[in-house]
Amino acid sequence: MSLNNKPVALITGASSGFGMRTAERLHTQGWIVYAAARRVERMATLSQRGIRTLAMDVSSEKSIKEGVKTILQEEGRIDALLNNAGFGSYGGVEDVPIETIHYQFDVNLFGAARVIRAVLPTMRKQNSGRIVNTASVVAHISTAGIGWYAATKHALSAMTDALRQELSGTGIHVSQIEPGVVRTGFEEVAITTLKAVHHQKEYQDVMDGVADGTRRMYKNAPGPESTVKAMVHALTAKKPKSVYKTTWDSRWLPLVRRLIGGKLYDKISLRTMRKSA
Ligand SMILES: NC(=O)c1ccc[n+]([C@@H]2O[C@H](COP(=O)([O-])OP(=O)(O)OC[C@H]3O[C@@H](n4cnc5c(N)ncnc54)[C@H](OP(=O)(O)O)[C@@H]3O)[C@@H](O)[C@H]2O)c1
Repeated sequence: MSLNNKPVALITGASSGFGMRTAERLHTQGWIVYAAARRVERMATLSQRGIRTLAMDVSSEKSIKEGVKTILQEEGRIDALLNNAGFGSYGGVEDVPIETIHYQFDVNLFGAARVIRAVLPTMRKQNSGRIVNTASVVAHISTAGIGWYAATKHALSAMTDALRQELSGTGIHVSQIEPGVVRTGFEEVAITTLKAVHHQKEYQDVMDGVADGTRRMYKNAPGPESTVKAMVHALTAKKPKSVYKTTWDSRWLPLVRRLIGGKLYDKISLRTMRKSA
């Protein structure tokens, strides 16, 4: 427990979407919550409710160290980490600039690794803790236009499995959250990044289809409730699960992909995107 006798959580990516709602939920349940993101001003409603906010850029080691130092100075411990900061930088595999790919890995994969390394010494001393990583259904599948984003989530998932085994028996539980398509702030960033890439003409109709298809899918997508519920369970339940598939598509799509095989999956995916364009 903290100096206040309450459990303490750090949530990254808390200025929007899943992170913001999970911060609110945990706070309501009596936790001391540190909500972290780059855009602190977007977390004003959280701080008005008594949630601590931290300016944190997960691509900066210094920024993470400072944030974790603040928590330890104020609370003396960290019981749970929700590693949730992330974004989708969409575009064709051949056309997304290499610096853009690097940056996406820097946030979605290395960012998560940096925060884990910053909190683990404390959790090990405590002999307890929760690390919850937000992966995605695209940790298991990939389609045209999202290749590099899916690569970051495949990599995050591989790292998470290894970490869970390595920490087994230490009192530190590791879980992975796998949402499918969910309405948050995610789609705005994904479509903006896709539009910013200069695509060669051979890819243009597919990429137009990805933009339209993404817009349409997100318009009809569920809200964040089931994912937030899973996040709270992973962070607080006595027996957290290793993996939480939080929407119907995250449960079924990888299975369908395995059942129908790669060729048919490619055909259906491409036809859907060309139709959208
Ligand atoms: N929504 C979906 O369909 C979906 C599906 C599967 C997985 N996910 C994953 O869910 C996680 C949360 O996304 P969301 O859907 O809630 O989208 P969102 O509403 O856009 O939230 C993304 C959060 O990540 C933060 N972030 C981005 N870059 C950052 C950086 N360099 N340093 C620190 N924070 C950063 C953003 O805050 P600032 O910009 O203020 O820093 C924001 O708070 C992401 O990892 C995403 O990949 C989303």
